[in-house]
Amino acid sequence: MTEPIRYELIKTCKQSGARLGKLHTPHGTFETPMFMPVGTLATVKTMSPEELKEMGAGVILSNTYHLWLRPGHDIVKEAGGLHKFMNWDQPILTDSGGFQVFSLSDLRQIEEKGVHFRNHLSGEKLFLSPEGAMDIQNALGSDIMMAFDECPPYPAEYDYMKSSVERTSRWAERCLTAHARKDVQGLFGIVQGGEYEELRKQSAQDLVSLDFPGYAIGGLSVGEPKDVMNRVLDFTTPHLPSDKPRYLMGVGSPDSLIDGAIRGIDMFDCVLPTRIARNGTLMTSNGRLVVRNAKYARDFGPLDENCDCKVCRNYSRAYIRHLVKANETFGFRLTTYHNLYFLLNLMKQVRQAIMDDRLLDFKEEFFEQYGFNKP
Ligand code: GUN
Ligand code: ZN
Repeated sequence: MTEPIRYELIKTCKQSGARLGKLHTPHGTFETPMFMPVGTLATVKTMSPEELKEMGAGVILSNTYHLWLRPGHDIVKEAGGLHKFMNWDQPILTDSGGFQVFSLSDLRQIEEKGVHFRNHLSGEKLFLSPEGAMDIQNALGSDIMMAFDECPPYPAEYDYMKSSVERTSRWAERCLTAHARKDVQGLFGIVQGGEYEELRKQSAQDLVSLDFPGYAIGGLSVGEPKDVMNRVLDFTTPHLPSDKPRYLMGVGSPDSLIDGAIRGIDMFDCVLPTRIARNGTLMTSNGRLVVRNAKYARDFGPLDENCDCKVCRNYSRAYIRHLVKANETFGFRLTTYHNLYFLLNLMKQVRQAIMDDRLLDFKEEFFEQYGFNKP
């Protein structure tokens, strides 16, 4: 059988150990480390696929849970799959719904079979299982599907986490069995285990024995301090095979992207850049900028003087501030475009720094300018 997903390791940074690579998928190849913009409802909010391509997005993420509820995966399948439905011909990764069931819905009840919960829109009673999550993702036709996992809150007791990790491993095996399109869609396993080293190790070993074409690290960016995340990555990645991609789920702050890459992570996703853009917060090389602020009313300079995106080349802080304050849609398009460009460009610089064996130096320089090193 041909493998739909293939990771090609190009080189390892001599200074940091970070990996430069390529991920080959049925809808093309992207370079890693890579940030994946989030298009929850089959759209990266306010961006056209043409703009995403123009800014260098090589892969986007979408959500099983949301597309199942609306418009329904049957409609997406009838359209010819998610790529065709949304007019995006490059790689798509879909999250399994595991996380969304836990973060968006209430009244959930976890059983061995799956999870009972209420639709966050209508209140209707629903049930999602590993088999259901595979069926939906097979209908969507994403290049990379995610296993149906449990993402416990932080902090969670050791004993709870242990039984949760064991269930997530059993669910992962059921996902592999239920996955009906192994020749054209790759399925990644998700390592859980919270902050517990033994449980992360157990989770990683369980999943690696099932031989997935890629592995995600889940259960992070759920409220834990940054040093906990870094420590978890430090003791988890050694248990993952170096010839498969590693994806850190739900992480998208500039410092965490760099810290993750240094720890051998290849893929990241997060709603952060698009979400903060819609309330007028920008990521810039000098740190966060809140463009609504009165001090920008007569500032006719660009959002970020070091950014060469089309927004920074053509529009001023004063104009964007005006649009955002007036709730003009165009303002949100401009802020979203810049924030995504900023992170994609940051990852491009990270890849160059790996190529040049100087990612730790790059981190120092970037953190200094962004303001992370300030007391
Ligand atoms: N997104 C962010 N974290 C997680 C996680 O732990 N599991 C899943 N399925 N998605 C996530
Ligand atoms: Zn810009």
